[in-house]
Amino acid sequence: MTKQTVILDCDPGLDDAVAILLALTSQENFDLAGITTVAGNVSLYHTYRNARALVELAGCPEVRVFEGCARAIMSEGARAEEVHGADGIGGVPLPAPTAPIEEQHAVDFIIETCRNAPDKGVTICPIGPMTNVALALIKAPDIKPKINEIVFMGGVAFGPGNTSPAAEFNIYADPHAAEIVIKSGIPQVMMGLDVTQQAIITEDRLRYFRELPSAVSHAVAEMLSAYRKMVIEKTGGARQGVLHDPCTIAYLIDPTIFEGEDYFVEVDCSSSANFGRTTVDGLAVTGQPANVKVMLNMNDQAFYDLLFDRISRIKK
Ligand code: RIB
Ligand code: CA
Repeated sequence: MTKQTVILDCDPGLDDAVAILLALTSQENFDLAGITTVAGNVSLYHTYRNARALVELAGCPEVRVFEGCARAIMSEGARAEEVHGADGIGGVPLPAPTAPIEEQHAVDFIIETCRNAPDKGVTICPIGPMTNVALALIKAPDIKPKINEIVFMGGVAFGPGNTSPAAEFNIYADPHAAEIVIKSGIPQVMMGLDVTQQAIITEDRLRYFRELPSAVSHAVAEMLSAYRKMVIEKTGGARQGVLHDPCTIAYLIDPTIFEGEDYFVEVDCSSSANFGRTTVDGLAVTGQPANVKVMLNMNDQAFYDLLFDRISRIKK
Protein backbone atom coordinates (compact mmCIF):
# COMPACT_ATOMS: atom_id res chain seq x y z
CA MET A 1 0.00 0.00 0.00
CA THR A 2 1.49 3.39 -0.99
CA LYS A 3 2.09 5.84 1.81
CA GLN A 4 -0.36 8.70 2.29
CA THR A 5 0.77 12.18 1.36
CA VAL A 6 0.17 14.29 4.47
CA ILE A 7 -0.30 18.05 4.83
CA LEU A 8 -0.11 19.42 8.37
CA ASP A 9 -2.03 22.70 8.69
CA CYS A 10 -1.22 24.46 11.95
CA ASP A 11 -1.13 27.56 14.14
CA PRO A 12 1.98 27.00 16.34
CA GLY A 13 1.24 27.23 19.21
CA LEU A 14 2.94 25.08 21.80
CA ASP A 15 1.01 21.85 21.26
CA ASP A 16 1.24 22.43 17.50
CA ALA A 17 5.02 22.52 17.96
CA VAL A 18 5.01 18.99 19.36
CA ALA A 19 2.71 17.84 16.54
CA ILE A 20 5.18 19.29 14.01
CA LEU A 21 8.09 17.45 15.65
CA LEU A 22 6.11 14.19 15.79
CA ALA A 23 5.27 14.53 12.08
CA LEU A 24 8.88 15.31 11.17
CA THR A 25 10.12 12.19 12.98
CA SER A 26 7.45 9.89 11.55
CA GLN A 27 8.04 10.10 7.84
CA GLU A 28 8.37 6.31 7.69
CA ASN A 29 4.60 6.28 8.22
CA PHE A 30 3.64 8.87 5.60
CA ASP A 31 5.08 11.37 3.12
CA LEU A 32 4.94 14.82 4.73
CA ALA A 33 4.33 17.00 1.65
CA GLY A 34 4.52 20.23 3.61
CA ILE A 35 3.39 22.30 6.55
CA THR A 36 0.87 25.10 6.05
CA THR A 37 0.32 27.83 8.61
CA VAL A 38 -2.71 29.88 9.60
CA ALA A 39 -3.54 32.62 12.09
CA GLY A 40 -4.96 31.16 15.29
CA ASN A 41 -3.25 30.87 18.65
CA VAL A 42 -1.21 33.89 17.62
CA SER A 43 -0.88 36.01 14.50
CA LEU A 44 0.14 34.51 11.15
CA TYR A 45 3.50 36.28 11.41
CA HIS A 46 4.31 34.20 14.51
CA THR A 47 2.67 30.92 13.44
CA TYR A 48 4.54 30.99 10.12
CA ARG A 49 7.86 31.94 11.74
CA ASN A 50 7.46 29.32 14.47
CA ALA A 51 6.75 26.53 11.99
CA ARG A 52 9.82 27.45 9.93
CA ALA A 53 11.99 27.64 13.06
CA LEU A 54 10.77 24.26 14.35
CA VAL A 55 11.40 22.51 11.04
CA GLU A 56 14.99 23.77 11.04
CA LEU A 57 15.46 23.05 14.76
CA ALA A 58 14.53 19.43 14.03
CA GLY A 59 17.14 19.29 11.25
CA CYS A 60 14.57 19.00 8.44
CA PRO A 61 15.22 22.14 6.33
CA GLU A 62 13.96 20.22 3.26
CA VAL A 63 10.40 20.18 4.62
CA ARG A 64 8.50 23.02 2.97
CA VAL A 65 6.53 25.52 5.08
CA PHE A 66 3.84 27.77 3.60
CA GLU A 67 2.16 30.95 4.80
CA GLY A 68 -1.65 30.83 4.76
CA CYS A 69 -4.59 32.93 5.81
CA ALA A 70 -4.17 35.81 8.22
CA ARG A 71 -7.76 35.84 9.48
CA ALA A 72 -10.99 33.88 9.65
CA ILE A 73 -13.41 33.81 6.72
CA MET A 74 -16.28 35.72 8.27
CA SER A 75 -15.81 36.17 12.03
CA GLU A 76 -13.24 38.23 13.90
CA GLY A 77 -11.38 35.07 14.91
CA ALA A 78 -9.68 34.49 18.24
CA ARG A 79 -6.23 34.31 19.81
CA ALA A 80 -4.84 32.16 22.66
CA GLU A 81 -1.78 34.13 23.72
CA GLU A 82 -2.69 33.59 27.36
CA VAL A 83 -1.72 29.92 27.04
CA HIS A 84 0.79 30.00 24.19
CA GLY A 85 2.56 33.27 24.93
CA ALA A 86 2.66 36.37 22.73
CA ASP A 87 5.12 34.68 20.36
CA GLY A 88 3.15 31.42 20.30
CA ILE A 89 5.97 29.29 21.78
CA GLY A 90 5.95 30.44 25.37
CA GLY A 91 8.93 32.75 24.92
CA VAL A 92 11.26 29.77 24.38
CA PRO A 93 14.12 31.06 22.19
CA LEU A 94 14.39 29.09 18.92
CA PRO A 95 17.08 29.77 16.30
CA ALA A 96 15.72 32.19 13.68
CA PRO A 97 14.68 30.38 10.47
CA THR A 98 17.06 30.77 7.52
CA ALA A 99 15.51 28.59 4.77
CA PRO A 100 14.20 30.44 1.68
CA ILE A 101 10.64 31.77 1.85
CA GLU A 102 8.08 29.83 -0.19
CA GLU A 103 6.34 32.20 -2.61
CA GLN A 104 3.28 29.93 -3.02
CA HIS A 105 0.33 30.59 -0.72
CA ALA A 106 -0.69 27.74 1.59
CA VAL A 107 -4.13 27.43 -0.03
CA ASP A 108 -2.54 27.02 -3.46
CA PHE A 109 -0.03 24.51 -2.09
CA ILE A 110 -2.88 22.41 -0.70
CA ILE A 111 -4.66 22.55 -4.08
CA GLU A 112 -1.53 21.75 -6.10
CA THR A 113 -0.53 18.85 -3.80
CA CYS A 114 -4.01 17.32 -4.09
CA ARG A 115 -4.19 17.77 -7.87
CA ASN A 116 -0.82 16.02 -8.24
CA ALA A 117 -1.89 13.09 -6.06
CA PRO A 118 -3.87 9.95 -6.97
CA ASP A 119 -7.48 9.64 -5.79
CA LYS A 120 -7.59 9.17 -2.02
CA GLY A 121 -3.89 9.90 -1.90
CA VAL A 122 -3.84 12.84 0.53
CA THR A 123 -4.53 13.15 4.26
CA ILE A 124 -4.89 16.65 5.68
CA CYS A 125 -4.40 17.34 9.41
CA PRO A 126 -5.76 20.76 10.40
CA ILE A 127 -4.74 21.52 14.00
CA GLY A 128 -5.71 25.19 14.05
CA PRO A 129 -8.63 27.14 12.56
CA MET A 130 -9.56 25.45 9.27
CA THR A 131 -9.46 28.60 7.13
CA ASN A 132 -6.80 27.36 4.66
CA VAL A 133 -8.50 23.99 4.09
CA ALA A 134 -11.93 25.56 3.67
CA LEU A 135 -10.66 28.05 1.10
CA ALA A 136 -8.86 25.30 -0.81
CA LEU A 137 -12.16 23.39 -1.05
CA ILE A 138 -13.97 26.53 -2.21
CA LYS A 139 -11.31 27.53 -4.74
CA ALA A 140 -10.84 24.00 -6.12
CA PRO A 141 -13.74 21.64 -5.40
CA ASP A 142 -12.12 19.20 -7.85
CA ILE A 143 -9.60 18.22 -5.16
CA LYS A 144 -12.21 16.43 -3.00
CA PRO A 145 -11.70 12.95 -4.56
CA LYS A 146 -7.95 13.30 -3.91
CA ILE A 147 -8.43 13.67 -0.14
CA ASN A 148 -8.59 10.34 1.65
CA GLU A 149 -9.29 11.74 5.10
CA ILE A 150 -9.22 14.96 7.10
CA VAL A 151 -8.01 14.32 10.66
CA PHE A 152 -8.61 17.50 12.59
CA MET A 153 -8.06 18.69 16.14
CA GLY A 154 -11.11 20.69 17.08
CA GLY A 155 -14.53 20.75 18.59
CA VAL A 156 -16.03 18.94 21.55
CA ALA A 157 -18.88 16.43 21.38
CA PHE A 158 -20.24 15.87 24.86
CA GLY A 159 -18.42 18.26 27.16
CA PRO A 160 -17.75 21.96 27.75
CA GLY A 161 -15.81 24.17 25.40
CA ASN A 162 -12.43 25.69 26.28
CA THR A 163 -13.01 29.05 24.61
CA SER A 164 -16.70 29.55 25.38
CA PRO A 165 -18.90 27.19 27.38
CA ALA A 166 -20.08 25.77 24.04
CA ALA A 167 -17.04 25.94 21.78
CA GLU A 168 -13.48 24.67 21.43
CA PHE A 169 -10.85 27.19 20.23
CA ASN A 170 -10.10 26.00 16.66
CA ILE A 171 -13.77 25.87 15.73
CA TYR A 172 -14.66 29.06 17.62
CA ALA A 173 -11.85 30.91 15.81
CA ASP A 174 -13.36 30.14 12.38
CA PRO A 175 -16.67 28.26 12.56
CA HIS A 176 -17.59 29.03 8.95
CA ALA A 177 -14.41 27.33 7.78
CA ALA A 178 -15.11 24.35 10.03
CA GLU A 179 -18.67 24.08 8.68
CA ILE A 180 -17.38 24.09 5.07
CA VAL A 181 -14.89 21.30 5.88
CA ILE A 182 -17.21 19.18 8.03
CA LYS A 183 -20.03 19.43 5.45
CA SER A 184 -17.65 18.66 2.53
CA GLY A 185 -18.49 14.95 2.35
CA ILE A 186 -14.81 14.08 2.77
CA PRO A 187 -14.23 11.32 5.38
CA GLN A 188 -12.98 12.89 8.58
CA VAL A 189 -11.84 12.17 12.11
CA MET A 190 -12.50 14.67 14.91
CA MET A 191 -9.94 14.78 17.70
CA GLY A 192 -12.00 16.95 20.00
CA LEU A 193 -11.59 17.91 23.62
CA ASP A 194 -13.46 14.75 24.65
CA VAL A 195 -10.34 12.75 23.81
CA THR A 196 -7.48 15.27 23.78
CA GLN A 197 -8.13 16.30 27.38
CA GLN A 198 -6.91 12.79 28.31
CA ALA A 199 -3.38 13.52 26.99
CA ILE A 200 -2.26 15.23 30.18
CA ILE A 201 1.23 16.72 30.46
CA THR A 202 2.19 15.33 33.87
CA GLU A 203 5.39 16.23 35.74
CA ASP A 204 6.76 12.74 35.01
CA ARG A 205 6.18 13.18 31.31
CA LEU A 206 7.83 16.62 31.41
CA ARG A 207 10.79 15.13 33.28
CA TYR A 208 11.19 12.47 30.59
CA PHE A 209 11.65 15.15 27.93
CA ARG A 210 14.08 17.05 30.17
CA GLU A 211 16.21 13.91 30.64
CA LEU A 212 16.60 13.19 26.91
CA PRO A 213 20.02 14.42 25.70
CA SER A 214 19.06 16.47 22.64
CA ALA A 215 18.61 20.24 22.42
CA VAL A 216 15.27 19.61 20.71
CA SER A 217 13.98 17.52 23.63
CA HIS A 218 15.09 20.25 26.04
CA ALA A 219 13.25 22.83 23.92
CA VAL A 220 10.16 20.61 24.01
CA ALA A 221 10.44 20.34 27.80
CA GLU A 222 10.77 24.12 28.08
CA MET A 223 7.80 24.72 25.76
CA LEU A 224 5.60 22.22 27.54
CA SER A 225 6.62 23.55 30.93
CA ALA A 226 5.68 27.08 29.84
CA TYR A 227 2.41 25.81 28.32
CA ARG A 228 1.53 23.82 31.45
CA LYS A 229 2.30 26.82 33.68
CA MET A 230 0.15 29.16 31.60
CA VAL A 231 -2.78 26.72 31.49
CA ILE A 232 -2.62 26.17 35.26
CA GLU A 233 -2.47 29.93 35.84
CA LYS A 234 -5.35 30.59 33.42
CA THR A 235 -7.58 27.88 34.90
CA GLY A 236 -6.60 28.35 38.52
CA GLY A 237 -5.25 24.83 38.54
CA ALA A 238 -8.43 23.27 37.12
CA ARG A 239 -6.49 22.03 34.08
CA GLN A 240 -2.82 20.94 33.75
CA GLY A 241 -2.18 21.36 30.08
CA VAL A 242 -2.77 18.65 27.53
CA LEU A 243 -1.29 17.81 24.15
CA HIS A 244 -4.26 18.34 21.85
CA ASP A 245 -2.66 18.62 18.41
CA PRO A 246 -0.20 15.70 18.38
CA CYS A 247 -3.21 13.34 18.76
CA THR A 248 -3.91 13.84 15.04
CA ILE A 249 -0.44 12.72 13.97
CA ALA A 250 -0.42 9.87 16.50
CA TYR A 251 -3.68 8.67 14.90
CA LEU A 252 -1.98 8.50 11.49
CA ILE A 253 0.83 6.42 13.00
CA ASP A 254 -1.24 4.13 15.26
CA PRO A 255 -5.03 4.56 15.09
CA THR A 256 -5.48 1.85 17.73
CA ILE A 257 -4.43 4.37 20.38
CA PHE A 258 -7.85 5.97 19.92
CA GLU A 259 -11.45 4.85 19.86
CA GLY A 260 -14.56 6.69 18.80
CA GLU A 261 -17.95 6.57 17.10
CA ASP A 262 -19.45 7.86 13.86
CA TYR A 263 -21.89 10.71 14.36
CA PHE A 264 -23.60 13.47 12.41
CA VAL A 265 -21.80 16.70 13.27
CA GLU A 266 -22.55 20.29 12.31
CA VAL A 267 -21.16 23.63 13.41
CA ASP A 268 -23.20 26.41 14.98
CA CYS A 269 -22.39 29.64 13.15
CA SER A 270 -25.26 31.59 14.70
CA SER A 271 -24.58 34.73 16.70
CA SER A 272 -25.65 33.04 19.90
CA ALA A 273 -24.06 31.60 23.02
CA ASN A 274 -23.51 28.46 20.91
CA PHE A 275 -21.34 30.25 18.33
CA GLY A 276 -18.62 27.79 17.24
CA ARG A 277 -20.23 24.77 18.90
CA THR A 278 -19.78 21.38 17.23
CA THR A 279 -23.26 19.95 17.58
CA VAL A 280 -22.91 16.15 17.67
CA ASP A 281 -26.05 14.07 17.14
CA GLY A 282 -25.23 11.55 19.86
CA LEU A 283 -28.61 9.78 19.73
CA ALA A 284 -29.05 10.06 15.93
CA VAL A 285 -32.26 12.03 16.40
CA THR A 286 -31.74 14.16 13.27
CA GLY A 287 -31.87 11.19 10.91
CA GLN A 288 -28.86 12.74 9.18
CA PRO A 289 -26.13 10.29 8.06
CA ALA A 290 -22.98 10.27 10.17
CA ASN A 291 -20.28 12.45 8.60
CA VAL A 292 -17.49 12.40 11.23
CA LYS A 293 -15.71 9.74 13.30
CA VAL A 294 -15.63 11.44 16.70
CA MET A 295 -12.84 10.19 18.95
CA LEU A 296 -13.90 9.76 22.58
CA ASN A 297 -11.16 7.77 24.32
CA MET A 298 -7.43 7.17 24.06
CA ASN A 299 -4.64 5.16 25.63
CA ASP A 300 -2.72 8.18 26.89
CA GLN A 301 0.33 6.16 27.97
CA ALA A 302 0.61 4.54 24.54
CA PHE A 303 0.34 8.05 23.06
CA TYR A 304 3.18 9.39 25.19
CA ASP A 305 5.29 6.26 24.62
CA LEU A 306 4.97 6.90 20.87
CA LEU A 307 5.79 10.58 21.36
CA PHE A 308 8.88 9.80 23.45
CA ASP A 309 10.04 7.17 20.95
CA ARG A 310 9.78 9.56 18.02
CA ILE A 311 11.05 12.79 19.60
CA SER A 312 14.02 10.90 21.10
CA ARG A 313 15.09 10.07 17.54
CA ILE A 314 16.16 13.70 17.08
CA LYS A 315 19.78 13.72 18.22
CA LYS A 316 20.43 17.44 17.65
O1 RIB B 1 -8.43 23.83 21.69
C1 RIB B 1 -7.12 23.39 21.47
C2 RIB B 1 -6.64 23.86 20.14
O2 RIB B 1 -6.60 25.28 20.11
C3 RIB B 1 -5.19 23.41 19.82
O3 RIB B 1 -5.05 23.25 18.44
C4 RIB B 1 -4.36 24.56 20.30
O4 RIB B 1 -3.13 24.68 19.58
C5 RIB B 1 -5.25 25.72 19.95
O5 RIB B 1 -5.03 26.02 18.57
CA1 CA C 1 -3.27 24.35 17.23
